[in-house]
Amino acid sequence: MSESPSSAAPVKYLEENAERRLAELFDFLRIPSVSAKSEHRDDLKDAATWLSDRMTDAGLDTEIIPTDGHPVVLGEWRDAGPDAPTLLIYGHYDVQPPEPLELWTAPAFEPDIRDGRVYARGSADDKGQLYMHVKAIEAHLVANGTLPLNVVVIAEGEEEVGSPNLLPFVKAHRDRLAADAVVISDSAMFDKGQPSLLFSLRGLAYAEVRVRAAKGDLHSGAYGGAVPNPAAILSRMIATLHDVTGRIAIDGFYDDVIEWGEEIRDEIRSLSFDEERFREGVGVPALSGEVGWSVLERLWIRPTCEINGLLSGWTGEGAKTVLPAEAMAKISFRLVPDQDPVRVIEQLTVHLESVAPDGVTLEVKALHGGRPWKANPEGPLFDAAATALEEAFGTAPVRVGEGGSIPIVVEFEEILDCPALLVGFALPGCNMHAPDEWFGLDEFHTGTAALVRLYEELGTALR
Ligand code: BES
Ligand code: MN
Ligand code: MN
Repeated sequence: MSESPSSAAPVKYLEENAERRLAELFDFLRIPSVSAKSEHRDDLKDAATWLSDRMTDAGLDTEIIPTDGHPVVLGEWRDAGPDAPTLLIYGHYDVQPPEPLELWTAPAFEPDIRDGRVYARGSADDKGQLYMHVKAIEAHLVANGTLPLNVVVIAEGEEEVGSPNLLPFVKAHRDRLAADAVVISDSAMFDKGQPSLLFSLRGLAYAEVRVRAAKGDLHSGAYGGAVPNPAAILSRMIATLHDVTGRIAIDGFYDDVIEWGEEIRDEIRSLSFDEERFREGVGVPALSGEVGWSVLERLWIRPTCEINGLLSGWTGEGAKTVLPAEAMAKISFRLVPDQDPVRVIEQLTVHLESVAPDGVTLEVKALHGGRPWKANPEGPLFDAAATALEEAFGTAPVRVGEGGSIPIVVEFEEILDCPALLVGFALPGCNMHAPDEWFGLDEFHTGTAALVRLYEELGTALR
């Protein structure tokens, strides 16, 4: 039996190069790769080029592959040979828009260290975590001259806009992406010092809803009272989406929701979670949600319906007596296994049609979506990850759910026929998608050492 190369030398290499690693991350974070805005197209290109160069430096054969949107960066190292397992590593180099800018303590694209944290857009989601994998690979290749398994890194630039070109890419390159497992670091730890492995991710179904009445805006005195008001009507329609117990009142919505079973509910209950501290953290006078479920259950294993935006009529300074012609709402659902985003938008459409009064027209447009994911958290993949995390952090990982979505996870599993492992290193309260996003330095460094060990463990476990 051949002995897998030790992690000791790569971990030592990481310690000796900690400062350089951080300086490089800062360069990555300075590129404003905001995928949602076309004005940043060149920045996305720059970020892809920068990443590709660093992946080449790390020892990967790297290629920037154009798509109909932003490019995919692909890096490969296959010298472990055809008998060794292959690990696919996925992450994204695009980021959310930084607005509102005035709420950042330091500018979003000028990384700033305060209190042991790197503050910058993308530090946690996902540049920081993606870069940890690049550096863990480099540590093995520089310190040992080899890796315990073959690796393929795929980094996309469109995750934050729903990965519109990734699914066709994965289908077209399925042979090149073939792997024994896919690992993703784009999520959070349960708490500081408490490494975590995900057992689920929620899915997403997102729609834009418009209610229209008169052919144009009207004087609210001259016409109000006799002409339907889309703002009031859409508000009433939205109010029918939940009942008083917080359940979603759409016919058939819960039909495909699986029973999670007492085992997972017990496991969630056993986590030490302080609902009061959570409430204080978000700064709300009282929490809300579906009756009969704990906060963690509401976030992880129950579906939701949220109003993400509302627009109608006069919203500028002062008063304008207007009867708006139109009202618009952005409405999204977080889904749990086995709900299907397409079906949910159909159910929403039927529901809204049934509650829309005469005198208005209704338009429901599906925006992006993604299916929910549930792991099989037993077996060699999870055991190997648990060993690596415990060695690096000194504490065994807990299994946690996640309320956010990474739509490609299910598609990877199905198209490539391999299991996914989601191990994230952001901390709760890290402000993903919000002003003052941050990533902990301890998590950056210890997490990278954990990934070094993860590759070593997987080199044996996936064989
Ligand atoms: N990294 C997040 C998903 C996430 C958030 C995982 C928090 C764990 C904790 C990802 O970049 C993201 O933001 N996903 C979007 C979905 C996408 C289709 C825009 C989301 O969850 O809203
Ligand atoms: Mn992300
Ligand atoms: Mn995100």
